[in-house]
Amino acid sequence: MNSLSNGGSAAARQFPEGFLWGTGTSSYQIEGAVSADGRGPSIWDVFAHAPGNTFHGDTGDVACDSYNRLEDDVAIIRELGVGAYRFSVSWPRVLPSGSGTVNQAGLDYYRRLCERLLEHGIQPVVTVYHWDLPQALEETGGWANRDTAYRMGELAQVLGTALGDQVRMWITINEPLQTVHQGYRAGTHAPGKRDDALAAAATHHIMLAHGLATQALRACTPAGTRIGPTMDTQPYIALDSASEAVADILDADFNRVYLDPVLRGSYPDAARTGFRPPDELIQDGDLEITATPIDFLGVNYYRPHHVRSGDWEDLRLGERRIGGFPGFVQYMAPDLPRTVMEWGIVPESLRDLLLRLHRESGGLPLYITENGCAADDYISPAGTIDDHERVGYIHGHLGAALEAIAAGVNVGGYFHWSLMDNFEWAEGYRRRFGLFYVDFESGRRVAKRSAHFYAQVARSGELPPLQDVVPSGERLPDVPATPAAV
Ligand code: NOJ
Repeated sequence: MNSLSNGGSAAARQFPEGFLWGTGTSSYQIEGAVSADGRGPSIWDVFAHAPGNTFHGDTGDVACDSYNRLEDDVAIIRELGVGAYRFSVSWPRVLPSGSGTVNQAGLDYYRRLCERLLEHGIQPVVTVYHWDLPQALEETGGWANRDTAYRMGELAQVLGTALGDQVRMWITINEPLQTVHQGYRAGTHAPGKRDDALAAAATHHIMLAHGLATQALRACTPAGTRIGPTMDTQPYIALDSASEAVADILDADFNRVYLDPVLRGSYPDAARTGFRPPDELIQDGDLEITATPIDFLGVNYYRPHHVRSGDWEDLRLGERRIGGFPGFVQYMAPDLPRTVMEWGIVPESLRDLLLRLHRESGGLPLYITENGCAADDYISPAGTIDDHERVGYIHGHLGAALEAIAAGVNVGGYFHWSLMDNFEWAEGYRRRFGLFYVDFESGRRVAKRSAHFYAQVARSGELPPLQDVVPSGERLPDVPATPAAV
């Protein structure tokens, strides 16, 4: 709940003129067609096919079959009435071996997509790297190998040259924290490594890749093209004064190692070994490259983390240990509303994050490049998908964005994650994030109630009072009967 949930003046509920409404997806999560037209394998093809890595062994082999359903996808984006569509390029579709020979058929697919979007007045917003590294580059060390950063610079140059006349807004990297943490530290995402030294090396190389891609795009795209990275800065909120210092270190480990090289040209001293890239990997000039000027900062926001003191030997409901900090726990209040991902729903923490990033970036334009929730969506006997939870979630977070704007933050746009249900990485197809429901067997896309709601907001630029969109008496958002696992 925030001040705009059920009230606020019409003026306070109005988004600024020119605010960019959008929605997003990423290549491996939607495209399928993994062997079509010369595409090479990615680390996600390999990871998803290895037993035990994804829920029920789900893979992106078919996904939403977007490669073959380009027209269907453009049609549903049009239905939303949004001004922009964020998608990512599958690196191995364009450079099947990661580098060198370009696969023209792959590039043609993205040119066609941009063309169709532009015909309908929808701006393509392209993410260069959204996690599907060519397997060929993994075989030479993946992100732990410095050369991969240069290969991403090469990819950006190929894309900028081929699509630069169509694309005015580029996102270099998506959530480097997840590439590093889940891919190299926790092993829960491709390439499934569990090695702190590799993770620290990957941190530097992916930030270097961001800088090199920014420079490459800048050099081959028309003046006025906007370029920036997308970060998932995760707020760590201390619930007692003893935890403040711990929250600060976690912020350095998980957030500032990605923000600072871009915004300050340094890595934070407060980050621990295994998080902060070791000095011997940082060559002269690297931090000037990571800090190449950007035009905006992309912000992916889903949830905060609450930290408090707590007994490791006697964990209570909603508490889990924080590695390396005996006596401190990550906490989730049992009555905190949460999504089916067990992520707490705290819209005001988006507002605070926007305020923080505004301060730290010296007032750079911020775009909310992802925000959304998974819910237990289903088609009712009446043929409707009544995802009140998602409507409530969007409403709360847009209200938080409005509060940040009112406080002077330059928020340029909002991209709901996601256009449609898709392959949710290690969670497979069981976690539905879409505004459109996808029947994965037939490929049919069906608008959920949230799609209608979002279309109304995007077309009018105004956030209606919640009671006008979710009839009273309907339950939202759900507090599960079984509290979060400890
Ligand atoms: C972040 C990622 O960028 C996206 O790929 C993912 O599906 C969403 N978060 C939801 O987890």
